[in-house]
Amino acid sequence: MKTTLVLAMTADGKIADVTKSPPTFSSDRDSAHLEEQIALADAILVGSGTLDDGGSVVLVKTPALIQSRIDRQKPAQPPQIICSRSGKIDPQLPFFSQPIDRWLLTTTIGAKDWHERDSFSQVIICETSDGKEIDWQVVKIKLAELNLENICLLGGSELAASLFAAEFIDDLWLTVCPVIYGGTASPTPVSGAGFTPDSAPKLTLLNVDRVEGELFLHYRVQK
Ligand SMILES: NC(=O)c1ccc[n+]([C@@H]2O[C@H](COP(=O)([O-])OP(=O)(O)OC[C@H]3O[C@@H](n4cnc5c(N)ncnc54)[C@H](OP(=O)(O)O)[C@@H]3O)[C@@H](O)[C@H]2O)c1
Repeated sequence: MKTTLVLAMTADGKIADVTKSPPTFSSDRDSAHLEEQIALADAILVGSGTLDDGGSVVLVKTPALIQSRIDRQKPAQPPQIICSRSGKIDPQLPFFSQPIDRWLLTTTIGAKDWHERDSFSQVIICETSDGKEIDWQVVKIKLAELNLENICLLGGSELAASLFAAEFIDDLWLTVCPVIYGGTASPTPVSGAGFTPDSAPKLTLLNVDRVEGELFLHYRVQK
């Protein structure tokens, strides 16, 4: 299984503004890049905070990308897996009307309110022994059992921190955009408790593309 985290950030390293509104700072080229990465995926994993802030998820819309998925015997849209320990997700979000397969990755407590509803076609419980956290090693096994080979990870910063800490990320695509957001409250690509220099995930730069004012950085996470 291969996992790829895809993020865009400002030149000062922010992935959203202080109000956490959905990012609008990247170009049409970056939107197309994001769509291409989503189209390559067997499933998308996204934190409930990102869903909550945007209300909906990015769909594959370009006909050639949809056709390419169908040619590969994939559904037109990859399943969207929302990750939440608590399961506290607003059922009125536009996300629940989008034409996609919705899955929830959660704990036993987080699953409680969703078993009776048909909002999610799958509720996957993968929890640590105390039931408080997601057990990412078990997630890896479950996703592999479901024949999901390429997982696209779309953040946000809290989920990315957990995934880096669990050594769950293989590749990172980072688009650096020519704008400054500033502010200490604006999220950066990876939040959480932070790493020490020794435990910090190290990256190998695979490729850099410069397209107009943006840099498309492709990293591999060293294992
Ligand atoms: N520029 C970009 O490329 C980009 C990409 C994505 C997001 N964003 C922005 O980033 C902001 C959201 O980031 P964020 O860090 O606040 O939120 P986030 O990581 O998307 O979501 C946080 C929530 O996800 C769940 N979660 C996170 N880690 C988890 C784990 N290890 N296990 C289980 N559940 C976990 C938790 O839900 P529970 O509390 O229910 O446990 C947590 O409250 C938004 O403003 C969004 O627009 C930007």
